[in-house]
Amino acid sequence: MIISVIGSGGREHAICKKISESPQASKIYCIPGNAGTSETAENIEIDINNFDKIKNFLIKSKTDLVVVGPEKPLVNGIVNLLEKEKIKVFGPKKISSQLEGSKIFTKKICKKYNIPTANFGIFKNIEDAIKFLKSSNFPIVVKADGLASGKGVYICENAYDANEAVKEIFGGKFGETKNVLIEDFLKGDEMSFFVICDGKNFKKFQTAQDHKRVFEGDKGKNTGGMGAYSPSGLINFNLEKKIVDKIIRPTLKAIKDLGENYKGFLYAGLMIKNNEPYLIEYNVRMGDPECQTILPLLKTDFLKIINSCCDGKLDNLIIEWKDQKSLCVVVCSKGYPEKFQNNLKIDNLKKLNLDKNDYVFHAGTKKNNGDIFSNGGRVLNFVTISSSYKKSREKVLKLINNLNWSNSFFRKDIGFKVIDK
Ligand code: AMP
Ligand code: GLY
Repeated sequence: MIISVIGSGGREHAICKKISESPQASKIYCIPGNAGTSETAENIEIDINNFDKIKNFLIKSKTDLVVVGPEKPLVNGIVNLLEKEKIKVFGPKKISSQLEGSKIFTKKICKKYNIPTANFGIFKNIEDAIKFLKSSNFPIVVKADGLASGKGVYICENAYDANEAVKEIFGGKFGETKNVLIEDFLKGDEMSFFVICDGKNFKKFQTAQDHKRVFEGDKGKNTGGMGAYSPSGLINFNLEKKIVDKIIRPTLKAIKDLGENYKGFLYAGLMIKNNEPYLIEYNVRMGDPECQTILPLLKTDFLKIINSCCDGKLDNLIIEWKDQKSLCVVVCSKGYPEKFQNNLKIDNLKKLNLDKNDYVFHAGTKKNNGDIFSNGGRVLNFVTISSSYKKSREKVLKLINNLNWSNSFFRKDIGFKVIDK
C-alpha cells in the first residue's frame, strides 16, 4: 500500500515509523514532514491548509490511504473533500470534528446526552459574562469556543482575571468570537483516554498522562505538552467502564444523531475525581506527545488497524499491547513557549546509543545538507519503554544527557505522579 501521512510533528513521526513496520506498507509520504519522518517516509513540501494541492498530490502519487495527524485540516473538512474524490482517508468528517473545533458544540452535546462535565454557561457578550462573574465562585474557567492551539483556556483565580479573559476573547485574540464559555473549575487528576472508531464500532486505544505546563512541578505557562507516559496510573476496570458508558458511547450516538458516523481517533481529555470521570474536552486526533508514548506499546500491525477502520471492519480485529510502561520527555528550544531561536544545529543525534526499546521522534526539526537543525519550540521526543515508569524515565534522561544540546531545556520530572510519590 502507498500511504500519505499529513502533519509535521512528533506525532506524525511516530505514526510514519509505526506504519513503516507493517509488511503492507510499500511507500510512505509525509506532508510536509520533518527531519525524522524522512527516515521512513518521503517528505512532500505542501502546506497542510492547501487542500487542492494535497488532493492533486494524492491522486498523482496513487496514494491508497491517507492518515491525517493534526486537527486543523480535520476541522476544515479535509476528510469530506477527499472522500468525495474516492480517496481512502482515516479521520473524522466535518460535523464530528466540531467536537474539537467548538467547545460549545461539545458542551451542548454533554447537556443533551447527560455526559458528566463541568457546569457551564454560554455568553454572547462581554456585559452578560461580566455580570455573571460578579456572583461566581473562584477559581473559574473561561474558554474561547474555537481552535486556539491549546491557548484559549483561562483558569481564573478572581473576578479581575476572569473579566480580562472575557475581554481578550471577545477582543478577537482567537479570531472572531460570538460566544464565550464559562465553566466550573474541576478538581481532580487528569487523564487522556483514546478510542479508535470505524464508523460503527470503537476500541480503546490506550490511556496516557500529558504534562502541559512548561516547568517542573506543573508550574508556568501551558504548552503543547512537555512529556507524557502511558498507561495512565489512574485507569482501572471500573473507571474504564464508566468512561465508555457515560462519555464515549453517548458522544458517538450524538454524532450519529447528527447524521455522521465517527471514524478516526477520538481523544477524551478527562478529569477523574473519586474514580468518576468528567469530560474536560475532546480532540478528534491522537495527542502529541501522547501518540509518541503510546505507539511504541502497540503490538498489533498499526496499518492493519487503520485500514480496518476505513473499511468499517474494526470489530474483527484484536488490538494487543505490550505490558510495559512508556515515558516520553520533550526536548524544547530555550525560551519555548515564548520566544525561541530556530535553525540551531543539533549535533550528536547520530551518536546516541539507542536500543530496541528507545525511540527519538522528531518534532520541530529540518535537514540541511545531511545535518539536523531545530525548526520549532518542541524539537525532539525521547521515549523509552521498560518494566517501570522509573526505569523508563532514567533511560530517557540518560539519552537526553548524551545528546547534550546546549540550546535546549526539558522537564526532568515527567511522570512524578507515578514515580516520585
Ligand atoms: P483544554 O484545552 O480544554 O484541554 O484545557 C487545557 C487545560 O486546562 C486542561 O488540560 C486542564 O488542565 C485545564 N482545564 C480545562 N477545563 C478545566 C476545568 N473545567 N476545570 C479544571 N481544569 C480545567
Ligand atoms: N498533548 C495535548 C494535545 O495533543 O492536545
